[in-house]
Amino acid sequence: MKILVTGGTGYIGSHTCVQLIEKGWQPVIIDSLVNSKISVLDRIQKITGTRPAFIEGDVRDADLLQKVLTEHAIEAVIHFAGLKAVGESVSMPLKYYDNNVHGSVVLMQAMKQCHVKTLVFSSSATVYGDATVMPLKEDAPTSATNPYGQSKLMVEKIIADLCDSDPSWSITALRYFNPVGAHESGLIGEDPQGVPNNLMPFLAQVAVGRREVLQVYGNDYQTPDGTGVRDYIHVVDLAQGHLSALTHGHGKAGHHIFNLGTGKGNSVLEMLNAFGKASSKELKYKIVARRPGDVAASWADPHKAKSVLNWQARKSIDDMCQDTWRWQSQNPNGYP
Ligand code: NAD
Ligand code: UFG
Repeated sequence: MKILVTGGTGYIGSHTCVQLIEKGWQPVIIDSLVNSKISVLDRIQKITGTRPAFIEGDVRDADLLQKVLTEHAIEAVIHFAGLKAVGESVSMPLKYYDNNVHGSVVLMQAMKQCHVKTLVFSSSATVYGDATVMPLKEDAPTSATNPYGQSKLMVEKIIADLCDSDPSWSITALRYFNPVGAHESGLIGEDPQGVPNNLMPFLAQVAVGRREVLQVYGNDYQTPDGTGVRDYIHVVDLAQGHLSALTHGHGKAGHHIFNLGTGKGNSVLEMLNAFGKASSKELKYKIVARRPGDVAASWADPHKAKSVLNWQARKSIDDMCQDTWRWQSQNPNGYP
């Protein structure tokens, strides 16, 4: 099967391309490289022995999309391309709505034009807003606390309307919890530009000596140790979830939504300790004020994905930290 992977040189996209190739499917990547490097392709080739087809371009370019869908005889699309920095989305909302919402509309229009009607969309647990009842099931109320989250909710709504209007579409929205970790080879991983916003890449940079100290955003939450609790999921488990979604969705009409998480929450201090163990380093930290917009705790109810997609996360927190450390220590400055 030939799969168009938008955003395929990015963090989750690159790991998914590896899994697709290993399954014998053919990813065709389109990426503008706005947040990734072309050298990712060398690494995918090193791991799998196959270099995926790559087109440098933007998903808002309708003509390019139609050309790629037709010339490569694409059967399904996985849509990762998007911007994901929550803080930036607050200061530059138009940039986020244009990239994430308009980009998705242009993609679905091109797919319609070319009669490609199977899509897997990268959504996020951020669509549960500031929910307090855990674990989160797919039918929990949704809301947005920032333009990034709103852009994901808007695309999910557009998908629902599209599937209502035309039952020949098969679209699966996957709501990721907190993707972390790296491929076990240490050849691909997360390579944020500038100061990392997220916990795991920050911890990795402290361990490798690029940053001095982790700031722990609050220890007065209603959680066992007072620090924030999240459902961290290994990126390779997450990547496999996309293959399960494609296997399940291909040919099955309608709009499907699944949480991809482990169903377990871990605190910031638990992650710090696990990373210290994996890297054999003492990681410095200091407790600072809460980060505005953070919820105390968030974790998934992953049962729907298990029963319908026959998918479940298998890797532990220790796997996540060991694999992140292998990637970070082998590539202290990220991709060349
Ligand atoms: P990433 O930034 O590493 O990958 C996204 C890729 O899309 C990048 O390679 C970037 O260059 C490309 N891109 C962005 N806009 C584009 C455009 N208009 N046209 C073509 N290419 C474009 O991010 P990621 O962590 O791999 O996330 C992938 C998807 O998953 C995103 O949609 C993100 O919102 C979603 N998601 C991520 C997380 C997370 O914590 N990483 C959590 C939930 C959801
Ligand atoms: N944290 C720190 N220090 C840091 C970074 C994070 O203490 O330097 C804490 C946060 O306060 C939170 C936890 O670590 O308690 C996890 O924070 P992340 O920034 O790694 O992840 P979030 O859960 O805040 O957000 C992530 C993505 C969002 C996405 C959300 C749900 O960044 O885009 O998961 O999928 F919407």
